[in-house]
Amino acid sequence: MSKNINTILITGATSGIGKSILELLSFKGFKIVFTYYKRDKVANKLVNDLKKVNKNIYSYKINLERNENIDKLFKFAKKKLKSIDCLINNAAFFVQRKKFETLPLSHVKQLMNINYFAAFRLSQLFAISNRKNKNWKTIINITSTAAKYGGVEFTHYAPTKAAMENLTKGLSRELASKKIRVLNVAPGVIDTRNLLKKEKKSNLNKMISSIPSKRFGNSEEVANLVNYLIDEKSEYINGTTITISGGR
Ligand SMILES: NC(=O)c1ccc[n+]([C@@H]2O[C@H](COP(=O)([O-])OP(=O)(O)OC[C@H]3O[C@@H](n4cnc5c(N)ncnc54)[C@H](OP(=O)(O)O)[C@@H]3O)[C@@H](O)[C@H]2O)c1
Repeated sequence: MSKNINTILITGATSGIGKSILELLSFKGFKIVFTYYKRDKVANKLVNDLKKVNKNIYSYKINLERNENIDKLFKFAKKKLKSIDCLINNAAFFVQRKKFETLPLSHVKQLMNINYFAAFRLSQLFAISNRKNKNWKTIINITSTAAKYGGVEFTHYAPTKAAMENLTKGLSRELASKKIRVLNVAPGVIDTRNLLKKEKKSNLNKMISSIPSKRFGNSEEVANLVNYLIDEKSEYINGTTITISGGR
């Protein structure tokens, strides 16, 4: 456990990177509220399994596209955890490649709502509820290397992550006086259920050959990085993006 952080709110923890972060931090003894979108059975199983080692794990079902639902989520998390020391904005709507010319604006707006505006509002609520801190509190945004390099046929997705990274820059400077750190973790290609299901095999092979480490990352590696970043040993790291991408 971290000296400064006991309680965590993490979005989108029923699969992939979020699930690995939730599992690791539960085993470390943090009190956690996690969110999910649709998969009740998966969320319930996670709570039941994790409660065997840590009784302070709570789930909350929310469609983050509906930004008006977010205040209720925060209220729930505060009720369960009393205070929230760390916010991890992880949930995102996974999208398939789409040609720029065929992208409906409504779809782009939907992604911006889930990936960016939800994280924006949660960060705002976090800042409001952590106005006076003796010890450092932390916001971690899970972005993507696509924020820096753009995404071919991912022009609906990559800018949502670029917006997040830019928010982090300004927020970290604005909130430092309140002892709130803001950081981005930018994964490259991570081997998750969506990636394997939704990318063509030929694309997967092309991707691997473009990664200097010649493999995809795994979600446990991202979870280990997040665990390090919320520890007080990393307290001097602020307002920056840590990339985890096998060198790509
Ligand atoms: N995987 C990669 O290669 C990769 C690379 C770079 C960055 N990232 C970033 O890493 C983060 C996690 O990615 P992942 O691949 O691990 O994700 P994932 O396996 O697709 O999991 C997404 C999570 O978000 C939830 N979610 C989806 N739509 C939602 C909505 N409308 N409202 C609320 N929650 C919603 C899902 O809930 P349900 O399970 O209930 O549907 C699930 O818990 C994302 O921010 C992603 O952009 C991933």
